[in-house]
Amino acid sequence: MSEHAATHPAAPSVFWETRYQETGTVWSGRVNATTADVVRGLQPGRAVDLGCGEGGDAIWLAQQGWNVTGVDISPTAITRARTAAAAGPLPGTVRFDAVDLESWSDGEDDGDGYDLVSASFFHSPVALTRTSILRAAASRIVTDGHLLIVTHAAAPPWAPPETHRKHTFLTPDEEIAELGLDRDLWEVRISETRSRTTTGPDGEAATLDDGVVLLRRRRPFSP
Ligand SMILES: C[S@@+](CC[C@H](N)C(=O)[O-])C[C@H]1O[C@@H](n2cnc3c(N)ncnc32)[C@H](O)[C@@H]1O
Repeated sequence: MSEHAATHPAAPSVFWETRYQETGTVWSGRVNATTADVVRGLQPGRAVDLGCGEGGDAIWLAQQGWNVTGVDISPTAITRARTAAAAGPLPGTVRFDAVDLESWSDGEDDGDGYDLVSASFFHSPVALTRTSILRAAASRIVTDGHLLIVTHAAAPPWAPPETHRKHTFLTPDEEIAELGLDRDLWEVRISETRSRTTTGPDGEAATLDDGVVLLRRRRPFSP
């Protein structure tokens, strides 16, 4: 979905905090399978997970030896992520910040840059300047570092017809085009749709399509 797809009038901080507060746990707590499949091929380093929710991906990254910062707008999601991270020893480090990515800066760590910026299902039905946030995060990636974006490439089969009608799901190539990054600076390593099987809300077997974009930064930015 593009950043123009806001369908709900609530302020993002209110919408997402309410979403997390109104149920015990929103997500499975496990890493997203597609994200894990791609990251297994990368050398661990410093990572940031944008819109990390309850921390499933960030904690998995730390289990693989990455030093990770997870960032999400919802304090409740971040509290759950911190609790989950405290449950076991991690080879890497993980830190969680409750921050609106519209005005995000990671302060004193800023100069070091990231080996990986990961954004898994960083979609929102409320206002989100998603492309600007991804572009700003990409500018913090070091040479040979990666930007990984995993998206919904289509609505799930159980979604109501209006979801299929209302939302435009970007293809991975469209996602890359929307980012508008300098193609001399960025190598496209993956731009594809991957299907995975899951269980729907009524226990039915279902197939979901994930968009996968993996970009590698070839060299430092020129001044
Ligand atoms: C669809 S959820 C995905 C959560 C997680 N990445 C996952 O795959 O389970 C989108 C997440 O983005 C977060 N989010 C939305 N707008 C945000 C913003 N402006 N700044 C930070 N996080 C935001 C939400 O709170 C939510 O946790």
